[in-house]
Amino acid sequence: MARRVTDHTGIRLPATKKQMVEGRLRKRAHALGMDLVGYCDWLLDDDAPGTEFQHVVDAITTNKTDFHREPDHFEFLAKCAVPHLLKERRSLLKVWSAACSTGAEAYTAAMVLADLAGANRFRFAILGTDICTTVLAAAERAVYGGDVAAAIPPEQQRRYLLRSRKADEVRIVPELRRLVRFAQLNLMSSQYPVDRDVDIIFLRNVLIYFDKPTQVAVLRRLIRHLHPCGFLFLGHSESMIGTELGLREAGPAIFRWK
Ligand SMILES: C[S@@+](CC[C@H](N)C(=O)[O-])C[C@H]1O[C@@H](n2cnc3c(N)ncnc32)[C@H](O)[C@@H]1O
Repeated sequence: MARRVTDHTGIRLPATKKQMVEGRLRKRAHALGMDLVGYCDWLLDDDAPGTEFQHVVDAITTNKTDFHREPDHFEFLAKCAVPHLLKERRSLLKVWSAACSTGAEAYTAAMVLADLAGANRFRFAILGTDICTTVLAAAERAVYGGDVAAAIPPEQQRRYLLRSRKADEVRIVPELRRLVRFAQLNLMSSQYPVDRDVDIIFLRNVLIYFDKPTQVAVLRRLIRHLHPCGFLFLGHSESMIGTELGLREAGPAIFRWK
C-alpha cells in the first residue's frame, strides 16, 4: 500500500510514519465499517471503486498552511517581484500556488496583489492546485476560522474578509474569490495543464515530502511554466533544490532564471 501511495503522490512513507499513516487510514476504514487490514486488502485487491484511492491520498497528505506563511515572501512579492514584472511590461500577472492546500497561500497572494493593483494598473489571475480534494473544496469555499484569519493584517482583514455573525468564521470577499481558481493537479503527472508564462509560482512546503530524484523531476517540470521574467518561491527549508537546478537566487528561497 505504501508503495502505491508513494508512486502516485511522490510522498515518502518511511517506517517512522507508519503509526501516523495507519491512524489516518483507520479512520476511513472505520467510517466504512471495516478494520484496517480488511480496508487495505479491499484496496489492494482492486475490489474498491476507483474513487476510493482518492480518500487514501486525502488521508495521507499533510495540509498545514497559514495566511502570510513565511511572510518575507509576501513582502518580496509586493516590494520587488511586482515592481520588476511591471517594469518588464507584464500587465496581467499570472500566479500559481502549486500545492495550495486550503487556499491560504493563494488568497494571501491575492490580497497582496489587490492592494497594489488599483494604483499600478495591472490585473492578476491566481490558480491554486493540489492533489487533495478535501483541501480544494475548502479553498473554493474560502471560509476560515477566526483563529486562522488572525494571521492576516488588520487592514487586509477589513478589506478582504466578511465576518459571520453567527460563528467565529470569516469568508474571503467575492471580489477576491473571483480572481482565484482552484483545480486538482498531481505534481507527479508528466505534464501540467497550466500556462507556460506564469509570473509567480509558489511551490512551498511540499518538496520536503518527496525524495531527491522526485524533487528534481517535479521542479524541472514546474519551471517550464515560469515566464522568463518570473519568480519561483520555494519553502525556506527547500531552497537548496532551486540552487542545484541552476536557477539564480533572488531572495530567501526565491528563484529566477539567470
Ligand atoms: C504542507 S502543505 C503546504 C501548503 C502551502 N504551499 C504552504 O506552504 O502553506 C503541502 C500540500 O502539498 C500537497 N501535495 C502533496 N503531494 C502532492 C502532489 N503529488 N501533487 C500536488 N500536491 C501535493 C498536499 O495535499 C498539501 O496540501
